[in-house]
Amino acid sequence: MTTGEKTPVLEMRGVSKRYGGVRALDGARLAARAGEVHGLLGPNGSGKSTLNKVLAGSVRPDTAEISLGGESVRIGSPRAAAALGVAAVYQQLSVLPDLSVLDNLVLGAEPTRAGLLSRKAAEALALPLLERLSGALGEVRPEQLAGRLTPSQQQLIEIAKAVLRRPRILILDEATASLHRDQVQVVFDLVRELRDAGCCILFVSHRLDEVMALCDRATILRSGQTVATVDIAETTPEELVRTMVGDVQAAERGHRELPEDAPTLLEVEHLTGSGLDGVSLTARAGEVIGLGGLQGQGQSELLQALFGAVRASGTVRVAGRQVRIGSPRQARRHGIALVPGDRGTQGLMAARPIQENLSIASLGLRSVAGALVPARERAAARRMVDALQMRIGGLDDPVSSLSGGNAQKVVFGKWLLTQPRVVLLDDPTKGVDIGAKGEIYRIIRRLVADGATVIINSSEDRELVTVCDRVLVLFEGRVRSEIVGEQITEERLVAQALRIGEGEQAA
Ligand SMILES: Nc1ncnc2c1ncn2[C@@H]1O[C@H](COP(=O)(O)OP(=O)(O)O)[C@@H](O)[C@H]1O
Ligand SMILES: [Mg+2]
Repeated sequence: MTTGEKTPVLEMRGVSKRYGGVRALDGARLAARAGEVHGLLGPNGSGKSTLNKVLAGSVRPDTAEISLGGESVRIGSPRAAAALGVAAVYQQLSVLPDLSVLDNLVLGAEPTRAGLLSRKAAEALALPLLERLSGALGEVRPEQLAGRLTPSQQQLIEIAKAVLRRPRILILDEATASLHRDQVQVVFDLVRELRDAGCCILFVSHRLDEVMALCDRATILRSGQTVATVDIAETTPEELVRTMVGDVQAAERGHRELPEDAPTLLEVEHLTGSGLDGVSLTARAGEVIGLGGLQGQGQSELLQALFGAVRASGTVRVAGRQVRIGSPRQARRHGIALVPGDRGTQGLMAARPIQENLSIASLGLRSVAGALVPARERAAARRMVDALQMRIGGLDDPVSSLSGGNAQKVVFGKWLLTQPRVVLLDDPTKGVDIGAKGEIYRIIRRLVADGATVIINSSEDRELVTVCDRVLVLFEGRVRSEIVGEQITEERLVAQALRIGEGEQAA
């Protein structure tokens, strides 16, 4: 059984990690015991996953002191972490779709020289656990291809795979997010069993009720720093939320009043499609509207649907006129632009000149009688470079020569050149350094000052507090509440996302 109840099996100290100018972790600490479920809490972007990935060996920290079972360790790779008894499950699925359920399960468990275990040994190892989880898994046969399973079945297989490694530390990072309530209960029973056998489980969930039900203690992160470790039995959800967000006031954001007569620019009624369950909203010229809530509640899908990149039913009116948005091309014609968050893959042609990347979306708009006017293109691009204060060599340099922040400004510039009326921003500053972030906020302010409407999805609550006039909190593809003006604080965003306190009575 467990030895030394109160001595930590895991200690992490001084864990720091920067991504460019973003401090994902800033001296974070964590001490967790054998035989406990230890929650890791904090607003979106506070560094929970980064801390877990440092422990799991998939992110290399800038600084960190880690000890396991009282011994100082270096964790240089996922393999090293596994050898030390650390197993991790995240929200993103990673089963190997072309392997059977059984092979996925035993992969990495007690590896033999030949790689995979004999079928008999594999079955002996895995079948009891499959059986144990059958209440959640439903009909799953060991020889079935894992890729054929539903997402929640795949998630359960990943949890089972981690458990089969008999880890000393089991990390579940939003691993129950996609599971149904009944499935979650089966996983919780398993987790409690592991805990009672002396395993230390690090548990991240955006569902605070799950944390309250399962965890013994919790460590709370804020902006990459550890602010507290608490006993769950001695706290309340409200207190946890307060600890998560601190005493942040709306004061720092300099709230603006919209003019009384600002016209309605965008009306959306009952938008329904993949990830969207009847979203309605109205946006006026000059407004910045945030999409809040837990991640993955339909925010990106809403922007994609408004941009015609995914199909959805419902009614959309731009400036009072009903429009059909069946494709990004149609969206562009109605003055709708989308700046994607993932600049590398979606936004730009990295090997092509900055000029070409800037001009490509707006060519049709400024060409005269269908003919290109290169000098104009160049002048327009040049103006955009100045306006956005991009630091570039020359317009003919490839985008790949730019820093992340400047590349993201190219994406902005490209869409601003189309002179959009409705600007959709999908996590626009993700991975961008602090300086460039501030400049992007200025661009947003200028856009709305010129009469556009901006709708922004962000993985950081602080960003919504900084830039938005109004935030729609999404939950399971629906708008579940709205926060307006000075009411927008990190505390309210977290509380409403988690459906506690005042969040329950909001419209
Ligand atoms: N690979 C990455 N590149 C750039 N920035 C990142 C990367 N991973 C995380 N970040 C940033 O680090 C911060 C912490 O992120 P994360 O650990 O995922 O937070 P959490 O899991 O608490 O939501 C955020 O600002 C996020 O944007
Ligand atoms: Mg995370």
